[in-house]
Amino acid sequence: MTLGILKESDGEHRVAVTPDAVPTLMKLGFQKILVESGAGDTAFFDDASYAKQGAQIADTATVLKESNLLVKIHPLPNAALDKLSAGQILVGQFNPLLQKEVVDALLRSGISAFSLDLAPRTTRAQALDVLSSMATVAGYKAVLTAANHLPTFFPMFMTAAGTIKPAKVLILGAGVAGLQAIATAKRLGAVVEAFDVRAAAKEEVLSLGAKFVEVEGAIDDKSAGGYAVEQTEEFKQKQAQLIHDHAVAADVVICTAQIPGRKAPLLLRKETVAAMKSGAVIVDLAASTGGNCEVTENGKTIRSGNVAIIGDSNLPASIPKDASVMYGKNIINFLKLIMIKGELNLNFEDDIVAATCIAHKGDIVSARLKQVMQPA
Ligand code: NAI
Repeated sequence: MTLGILKESDGEHRVAVTPDAVPTLMKLGFQKILVESGAGDTAFFDDASYAKQGAQIADTATVLKESNLLVKIHPLPNAALDKLSAGQILVGQFNPLLQKEVVDALLRSGISAFSLDLAPRTTRAQALDVLSSMATVAGYKAVLTAANHLPTFFPMFMTAAGTIKPAKVLILGAGVAGLQAIATAKRLGAVVEAFDVRAAAKEEVLSLGAKFVEVEGAIDDKSAGGYAVEQTEEFKQKQAQLIHDHAVAADVVICTAQIPGRKAPLLLRKETVAAMKSGAVIVDLAASTGGNCEVTENGKTIRSGNVAIIGDSNLPASIPKDASVMYGKNIINFLKLIMIKGELNLNFEDDIVAATCIAHKGDIVSARLKQVMQPA
């Protein structure tokens, strides 16, 4: 079995597997590890560091042709996909619920593809949950990015030149990214409050020393696998008012609220942004799915009056070294499920294997993806 590590493109600085993982992959049973030349450069892992661990460096065409299993972060461009054939396997984080054209291309190619962002929210799946590991990176970096843009300090200072008040940070959405943002903002000395629709989030927010902003009457659907669900209009109005009141008092708002496979909930209206403090900063991690803030522009930092709005859903790419290490560990933990003694074993009785499989022999296996692609 040969494993191929492909290079990312379009400003992505991470790489799917780092050199330190090569010996582990060999132990898993791969006889050869092929690395597309330059794959790790932007994550600060040069070709020599892969070669030192026993990998071979090759050009794109060779990696695509000779690898039984290929690892990637973002979807493979169609030109590369055309060079693959049935029997080859591709593993990555392809956001298939929102990128139907990617799924269609994979189905046409005849290869087997697994997208780890579809892993179920179970204890067993945690070790390969790319959404969690990358949300940890994003939540941390969102706060540092806000601090960099803020014209004031985060911590309180009592100096001979007077007392500086601590920054007030409001976090919208207290999932993995939101909780990491709370922890990071607290470490920097800010006063932090957070809001979420899931009742379970309250305890976690409080345990990190932040205040929980509560709106009564949220629909908390236990059958949604730990995810948030769409809320009623009445709830949305109450929520909009409460968020407005807290946002106008905040120096920083970090937006992390998402609903899988749907447009991000709109939580910060333009009227709220207009009423925010001069110099305030909004970091919107939901930018790629429409943003939690009405004025967010995906991939851009803009100003609305005297408020800076940073729309960035790919902050993990800005901590490429550690983010790649974490992503690579997720990949290896997944490969352990589909390899037995060096042989491929695609067991669709395994809930994780079935849930993450977006294409196999021209068909979708993931029940969640089937529902989105072929609604009843
Ligand atoms: P996510 O990325 O899907 O969403 C981020 C947060 O936004 C969530 O907390 C969600 O409740 C919140 N949100 C959605 N709509 C909102 C709205 N209108 N207003 C305010 N907040 C809103 O969430 P993430 O980080 O994936 O976590 C969701 C849950 O899954 C958490 O309970 C987490 O602990 C759990 N989880 C479990 C895992 C496992 O067991 N393998 C792995 C990762 C997360």
